[in-house]
Amino acid sequence: MEKQSLLKVLTQAGTGSRRKISAAIKEGRVSVNGEVVTGFNHPVEPQKDRISLDGRLVDIKPQQFTYLMLNKPKGVLSTLKDERGRRTVIGFLPQKYRHLRLYPVGRLDKDSTGLILLTNDGDLAHRLTHPRFEHEKEYHVLVKGGLKASEIRRLEMGIKLEDGKTSPAVVKKIKSAGYNCSITIHEGKKHQVRRMFEALGHPVLELKRVRMGNLKLGDLKEGEVREVRKEKV
Ligand code: URA
Repeated sequence: MEKQSLLKVLTQAGTGSRRKISAAIKEGRVSVNGEVVTGFNHPVEPQKDRISLDGRLVDIKPQQFTYLMLNKPKGVLSTLKDERGRRTVIGFLPQKYRHLRLYPVGRLDKDSTGLILLTNDGDLAHRLTHPRFEHEKEYHVLVKGGLKASEIRRLEMGIKLEDGKTSPAVVKKIKSAGYNCSITIHEGKKHQVRRMFEALGHPVLELKRVRMGNLKLGDLKEGEVREVRKEKV
């Protein structure tokens, strides 16, 4: 069987998020056939090599992953837990999915609505969110005031924000219930869309994510969850 990187195999085994596993490898908590390994790309044969995390053998059976899309309502956090007890996306998961250790891919502000993908496929989650892979994210936005053609061009070419210039975007005026503009970006800076419009003096009043890569929100109602096949994602 083909060798794969240690980080990828552990992430796919569902032992935790890619970030947590990277830290465990760096800290020398992972061993392969009894030897501590600290390189993420150390090649392993998942069905042959014995991989241990914190001294315990990791079960590397090929895992069936689950992919759920949720239309997040306003006022809900896109995290699993909140120390202050506010509502999170976990409350929308039907009981049959609760034991699967699904987690949300990427962030959506509390006041934004729309598409959130939840999965336990850490490798795919990483590929969808890392800017290197340039997956598109499309938002429908209600902005205050009319956008001039010159402002649309500025948004498309990149806006200087305090944490750097945004990369090229596609912006269109739309006439959709409750929204007057669509914007497609490839990055995920914090509050990026809101800050881009704010920088031009057009505060965002409503924001809904309608697409991530090939995955479209479609007719999914707010608060509803739908299981999707990996190919769709
Ligand atoms: N950009 C924002 O400003 N907010 C979101 O929730 C998503 C993208």
